[in-house]
Amino acid sequence: QKTDEYKCWLRYERKKDLANIEALKKIVVLEKTEIIKSAVEELKRGILSITGIEPEVIADREGNNSAIVLATVDSSNMTTLNRSLNNDGYMLQSFTKPKERIYLTGKTDKGVLYAAFHFLRILQTNRDYQQLDIIENPKTQLRMINHWDNMDGSIERGYAGHSIFFENNQFILDYGRIKDYARLMASIGINGISINNVNVHKAETNLITKELLPDVAKVANIFRQYGIRLFLSINYASTIEIGGLSTADPLDPQVREWWTKKTAEIYQYIEDFGGFVVKADSEHRPGPFTYNRNHADGANMLGEALLPFDGIVIWRCFVYDCLQDWRDRTTDRAKAAYDHFKPLDGQFLENVILQIKNGPMDFQVREPVSPLFGAMPETNQVLEFQITQEYTGQQKHLCYLIPQWKKVLDFDTYAKGEGSTVKKVVDGTLFHYKYSGISAVTNIGNESSWTGHILAQANLYGYGRLIWNPDLPEATITDEWVTQTFGKHPKILNTVKEMLADSWSIYEKYTAPLGVGWMVNPNHHYGPNVDGYEYSPWGTYHFADWKGIGVNRTKKDGTGYTEQYFPENFDMYESVETCPDELVLFFHHVPYTHVLKSGTTVIQHIYNTHFEGVEDVENLLESWISLNGFVDEKRYNDILQRLTIQLEHSKEWRDIINTYFYRKSGINDELNRVIY
Ligand code: GCU
Repeated sequence: QKTDEYKCWLRYERKKDLANIEALKKIVVLEKTEIIKSAVEELKRGILSITGIEPEVIADREGNNSAIVLATVDSSNMTTLNRSLNNDGYMLQSFTKPKERIYLTGKTDKGVLYAAFHFLRILQTNRDYQQLDIIENPKTQLRMINHWDNMDGSIERGYAGHSIFFENNQFILDYGRIKDYARLMASIGINGISINNVNVHKAETNLITKELLPDVAKVANIFRQYGIRLFLSINYASTIEIGGLSTADPLDPQVREWWTKKTAEIYQYIEDFGGFVVKADSEHRPGPFTYNRNHADGANMLGEALLPFDGIVIWRCFVYDCLQDWRDRTTDRAKAAYDHFKPLDGQFLENVILQIKNGPMDFQVREPVSPLFGAMPETNQVLEFQITQEYTGQQKHLCYLIPQWKKVLDFDTYAKGEGSTVKKVVDGTLFHYKYSGISAVTNIGNESSWTGHILAQANLYGYGRLIWNPDLPEATITDEWVTQTFGKHPKILNTVKEMLADSWSIYEKYTAPLGVGWMVNPNHHYGPNVDGYEYSPWGTYHFADWKGIGVNRTKKDGTGYTEQYFPENFDMYESVETCPDELVLFFHHVPYTHVLKSGTTVIQHIYNTHFEGVEDVENLLESWISLNGFVDEKRYNDILQRLTIQLEHSKEWRDIINTYFYRKSGINDELNRVIY
């Protein structure tokens, strides 16, 4: 028996009022494919669990029985629908007369699977299933998950146990778990998963060899049943590491030939292989720079090899100097991605896609949006989020990231005038990209809850739902998740919803203030350390002295980073008057006595928010305690324990940050609270 925490949002809780619905007792299947088989299986499982009756699969094209009907547009002769549906789109329609029929019609079998999950979501969230007339098309084409799993079983930045794929440099091949994972991912519309870390070490370099490809193929076979293509992160220097060549120069004919053959070989094992994810010339990983070539040369070499198979290259833009001298005030890491990639616009092959982190630094609690979005009209772009909470509390702290991601997606780049939002860049509509989409580093591991913190399941669920449709309101996503995960009791819904809604801003309050970032312990990135990254080679400085703090990134007399934005955003960030408070220290170096738009000084803001943040965590804890008896004991206690740890650690943050700035500035807290 699988636990509730394991089942996540696919719990399919019993609903007495649905026990005797005729239409739920039969399923008609007009076309049989592997994916439609998965849809039928899921409907059977879900309906059995919700109603207590397992539906029977019958042949009834004529409509003599009340039933759920699964079909593609073609098999149901509804070809007029073709115009309204994109490749992964579907329609849900219900009729009550003469028989009760619920049609789940996909443009392709993938659409049918998504429709089945949608229908089960309707049943789980108590919405009316008898009046269905819904057309759904995902707005985002590539809806990707990136694993940072290593073959030894560890997960880089993983906070929920070990890998579900690897252990001891081998595949685990726990088919049951992989299938449950694929079900979870398909239920939120994910259609591509890269299974290994972007840092490809020795063992993982071998994933593309004939020793390991049969096992990779076994995982891909399961994914395929759920409409998911498997991707691999590859080692840019594979030709040297495993190819017996002495170079990885992308313009060397032997190197190119090796990749062409290698890629063809991969497709012999996995006919629908998605392609390569590549971290090159980044944080000590090999890349084309070694050979005086640029990233277009490197990416195109791989693109060429993948092109005949419809495969794609996802080339990451996380490229910067990680060996910077902290004394060097002219280099600004925030500028690096734009400086490296913008000049190459138009030089990439059509199946190469640049994957860009949401911010210019590295998944901090608060960052501006990367200025690369919208800056490359001729180059496919994918946005990269981080679901795993590296800098946002490592799944010990509650931090619901949907509000953060929505802010990014809704950000107006002004690339083609007003309304050129990031979501329009990455859904491909602004510049008519051939490929585009959204990707994220996942937060799952082999713990029974998948995500460690059970409430962190909301980030995974919300990610999938949000990238399917970036216009979905946060509240809708949260409602869906809470109801499916904990049931429909209004007290649970309201309480958990409020806890989630505020949690990112609470976390921000007691950690790094006003967009400055990086005040964490080096390496593991957990816990406060104001100077942890100050005198380091990573390009991560706040420049706090006795008078003030922040990074001057202005054109006028700073690093000039602001110039990478289109004029409207440049103007907003360039002037301290118009720069939003939450990012003021990202863009400006100001005295502690600088008065924010909120009316408080920077130093008083730091004190206030750090005291408030801890009080807010106390309230989170109290809210959760008020749910005692409303949630099963196991999940109740688990979450209680995490919130208790969060409270302890938030105090550590508060006291260290406040004390640091009090000692640096010598300015008293106006309210005379305890600072050490
Ligand atoms: C961060 C993270 C690394 C990761 C890197 C990346 O720097 O700390 O663990 O490898 O991002 O995205 O490549």
